[in-house]
Amino acid sequence: MGLIGAGGIAENRHIPAYQSLNEDVEITGVQDVNLVRAKEVAEKYAIPHVYEDYLEMLKHVDAVTICTPNKFHESIAVAALNQGIHVLCEKPMAMNAAEGKRMVDAAEKNNRILMIGYHYRFMDAVALAKQSMADVGNPIVTRVQALRQRKVPGWGVFINKQLQGGGSLIDWGCHLLDTALWLVSPSKPVEVNAQTYQRLSKQPNQVNDWGSYDHEAIDVDDHVSAYIRFDDQSTLLFECSWAANIKEDKTHVSISGENGGLSVFPFELYQPKHNRMMETHTNTTEDQQQAGLLQAKNFIDACSGKAQLRSSPQEALQVSKVIDAIYESSNQGKSVFIN
Ligand SMILES: NC(=O)c1ccc[n+]([C@@H]2O[C@H](COP(=O)([O-])OP(=O)(O)OC[C@H]3O[C@@H](n4cnc5c(N)ncnc54)[C@H](O)[C@@H]3O)[C@@H](O)[C@H]2O)c1
Repeated sequence: MGLIGAGGIAENRHIPAYQSLNEDVEITGVQDVNLVRAKEVAEKYAIPHVYEDYLEMLKHVDAVTICTPNKFHESIAVAALNQGIHVLCEKPMAMNAAEGKRMVDAAEKNNRILMIGYHYRFMDAVALAKQSMADVGNPIVTRVQALRQRKVPGWGVFINKQLQGGGSLIDWGCHLLDTALWLVSPSKPVEVNAQTYQRLSKQPNQVNDWGSYDHEAIDVDDHVSAYIRFDDQSTLLFECSWAANIKEDKTHVSISGENGGLSVFPFELYQPKHNRMMETHTNTTEDQQQAGLLQAKNFIDACSGKAQLRSSPQEALQVSKVIDAIYESSNQGKSVFIN
């Protein structure tokens, strides 16, 4: 395994996950445009090789994990896939769906594994919700809220549209959008009406719990709302924010279906039975580290031909199409249709 981009997510999620699966995978190389950082990470985690150029590293590995800013996901993934190398690429898939499509095409053409790091699917609560969709039946209305009270990331390049493609939606909302789309599939999103905002973040001296940022430089959304219609007339009410004036942070996905309903965080199932509504609770976790470990295992097993991917690149592309449609609808001030 080679790591490309040795920042926060590489160190906190992927390195511990791969190193705990050490019978199946070995991290043999690391590359970062910041060579000092790459060397630091290599030394700390006993990774034998550091590369200045990722193209050089591709000659020596079977798979790569891409943890760079979003702008570089496509070019690196396509180069790796074209050399016959499997790719786990961090979310979001890319800056937009056109880039994502080229990644899918490269994976299909070269018959290689491409996985996007939508690790929420590997959370215990989300996996149980997926199993429980049989009890929910056809979805009617889905609600998604990915809301943070005043937490614009004050580090990295997250507020830079040129490097990330967007803000709260492409960075954080994408996880819950992927979760919801996975749960309600095969229902397909066909129409989006949305509005994006950056009203709070453009004001000086805002209260912000995650460090400080340049209010003049930020050029990405800090709050987004959307109404999404599916091919079966079911709908999804979506809201995400990095900087909301709300009581507390909220991570919410719930589905009201034809037979029952569920809420994911924490997992609850609502069903009519014996002439009344019954509620099922159980112990589930929403552990991110555990999800990261299961994601790494699924990727490695898929590369070895031992498992199917839980998160296909075609599904990740669908998430990118909805994100594009949200941004486009807001720009145009009207509904946008998805093919
Ligand atoms: N799955 C999740 O929950 C999750 C969480 C955080 C970040 N991410 C994703 O991971 C990616 C990286 O985020 P991060 O938090 O680690 O950021 P970060 O800023 O901590 O690290 C990014 C690293 O990439 C390096 N880099 C920049 N351009 C590069 C290039 N062209 N080639 C090689 N290295 C390059 C930087 O020097 C830096 O070390 C982003 O796509 C982000 O969306 C996912």
